[in-house]
Amino acid sequence: MNRRDFLRGSALISAAATLPKFSFAQVKAGDRIKAGLIGCGNRGCGAICNMIEADQNIKIVAVADLFADRFKSHLPRISNFCKQKKISDEVFNIDTVKKFSGWNAVDEILATDADVIVDAAPPVFRPGHFEKIINAGKHAFLEKPACVDVTQVRQMYKLANLARDKKLCVVCGTQRRHHSGYQEIIKRVQDGEIGEIVSADCYWHQGGYFGQGLWANTPTNSVKILKK
Ligand SMILES: NC(=O)c1ccc[n+]([C@@H]2O[C@H](COP(=O)([O-])OP(=O)(O)OC[C@H]3O[C@@H](n4cnc5c(N)ncnc54)[C@H](O)[C@@H]3O)[C@@H](O)[C@H]2O)c1
Repeated sequence: MNRRDFLRGSALISAAATLPKFSFAQVKAGDRIKAGLIGCGNRGCGAICNMIEADQNIKIVAVADLFADRFKSHLPRISNFCKQKKISDEVFNIDTVKKFSGWNAVDEILATDADVIVDAAPPVFRPGHFEKIINAGKHAFLEKPACVDVTQVRQMYKLANLARDKKLCVVCGTQRRHHSGYQEIIKRVQDGEIGEIVSADCYWHQGGYFGQGLWANTPTNSVKILKK
């Protein structure tokens, strides 16, 4: 398979994986989508804030982390966000949200009535968590990267098929793939607009990483492509 076919294939797989089989529109009026979070670190709490900001017809029912101290150090970020945006504690309540810690935390959160699970634990755990999420019949938002090696990639492909068979909605945190600007550029490249690509370098220029949940500097991207 050449590079262009591979890229085209990856784009299709990504598009298929993000088809919205389950959406806020399908929820009956008055019903809140119940969400749970695995991995209450920087991105997990950020993803929950993004989710709440996107649609407040949601309730964060449970959180899980290997380490219980994360609930004290990180969950206040979600409370502060809700306070700042004047969002009801029906959506998130730090005192009443169910909290599970330790190695059984994932099984415990999956036994709750959460409809959708956000998995923002380190990626090495992703395939194992995803398998459990599917077996529990729950929809998933999986942070990127989806996995860490070839063995796990194969596992994730099988699990993606299983999720599709079970009509579960799965979205990955590969935000660039949902960005219309990036989609347009990749379409033009795949359509051959810049000719045959012989080499490509990709850079991400950024200042500090998350400092207390804030971007220190605005990141910029640059891609250098050599063409014939
Ligand atoms: N989409 C994006 O823009 C974006 C941005 C940042 C990070 N990420 C991804 O999000 C993921 C998390 O990154 P982070 O920066 O939040 O890391 P983090 O270390 O701040 O958070 C990870 C959390 O998972 C917990 N954890 C570890 N193993 C676990 C397990 N087996 N079960 C349950 N909880 C477990 C840790 O205790 C920690 O609280 C990574 O895959 C990262 O690459 C994505």
